[in-house]
Amino acid sequence: MKNYTDLFSQDTFSFFRSPVRDIFKRVDLNAIYSFAGGYPSADTFPLEDFRRIMSEVIDRVGAKAFQYGATQGVTELREALSLRYGVSLERVQITSSSQQGIDVCTRILADPGDVILTSSPSYLGALQSFRSYRADVRGVAYDSDPDRFEAAYVRTAVAALNEGKRLKFIYSIPDFQNPSGETLPLEHRRRLVRVARRFGMLIVEDSPYRELRYEGESVPTIYSIDPDITLHLGSFSKIMAPGFRLGWIFGHPDVLDMIYVCKQSLDLCPPVFDQYVAAGFISDGSLDRNLEKSIALYRNKRNIMLGMLEQTMPEGVSWTHPEGGLFLFLTLPEGFDSVRFYDTALDAGVAYVAGSFFYPDGGGHNTMRLNFSFMTADRIREGIRLLASLLK
Ligand SMILES: Cc1ncc(COP(=O)(O)O)c(C=O)c1O
Repeated sequence: MKNYTDLFSQDTFSFFRSPVRDIFKRVDLNAIYSFAGGYPSADTFPLEDFRRIMSEVIDRVGAKAFQYGATQGVTELREALSLRYGVSLERVQITSSSQQGIDVCTRILADPGDVILTSSPSYLGALQSFRSYRADVRGVAYDSDPDRFEAAYVRTAVAALNEGKRLKFIYSIPDFQNPSGETLPLEHRRRLVRVARRFGMLIVEDSPYRELRYEGESVPTIYSIDPDITLHLGSFSKIMAPGFRLGWIFGHPDVLDMIYVCKQSLDLCPPVFDQYVAAGFISDGSLDRNLEKSIALYRNKRNIMLGMLEQTMPEGVSWTHPEGGLFLFLTLPEGFDSVRFYDTALDAGVAYVAGSFFYPDGGGHNTMRLNFSFMTADRIREGIRLLASLLK
């Protein structure tokens, strides 16, 4: 039997497996109460709209919809995004989902040992990507006071510089963060821009949940504060369907040009037929209609989960109140270990993701992420009741 390990690249030694994906391998999500995944509800996939638009694309575009396409993406889709979000066409690059957006940004910016500053906790898929390029990832905790928030980023950046490191970018999920569900206030966004300018860094603004807002006012994007130092990542996964694997990057044309070259070696071009379908989905109003329905559905599920937590959770447990997105974050009493508790919960039929997986520098052992989009309202009720009884 050949020993393949000797052949694997140095990068592979920094890869780590997603504990979230491993959970999916261990259990049938439909057979348990699963608060673990980040899956949208299948009820939000408008199959009839897809059928109509797909057939319209075949009639109108014909064989071209199945040919290789431009690396930047299909012009029709780039134009639709440019119009919808008020960003000029040369600043729009289509990606094969925002996970690829994260990966391609890291690939063009980070050499081994280069520093990426990220919120702590942060999105696991991004941490996997950063580590796979052997970047030096440093987490910065949120602080509701903008001065202290900025000072923490400055302190972390200065410490890295003093070690002779190179600073590359700040990674932020400002809208309904995964995993915490929290939204970064405008002043904090301005402070991130100030830190990035001061240290000559870029900002990667990852915002796949931005349009799933259930209450409160929308906060301007970091990209709108400084479009020349921000790479804004969007995704069709949560507003259309994740199976299309489509997303976008808004950014300065000089940076997008490097991404363009990089993507030539990654996938040549994003999926062409899917892009025509996404363009049709935006242009004929299906996206806005579907968003309205998805928002109503998710708002209700979020409210049910919040209400059930209030009713059932023992003293000493607190949680975030997300204004949008798919997750909320539970904090249990100091000393609780949500990784160790996991098997007990799973044996009883309820799954969550242990919060510590999202902390790049350790910590968060007494936290867990709960998803409220995937299960039906009734199963959310039953699942929270079960989780609370186990915690008691
Ligand atoms: C913050 C964040 N970024 C990116 C992604 C990846 O999304 P996709 O690749 O489906 O666009 C996710 C998925 O859950 C996410 O939560």
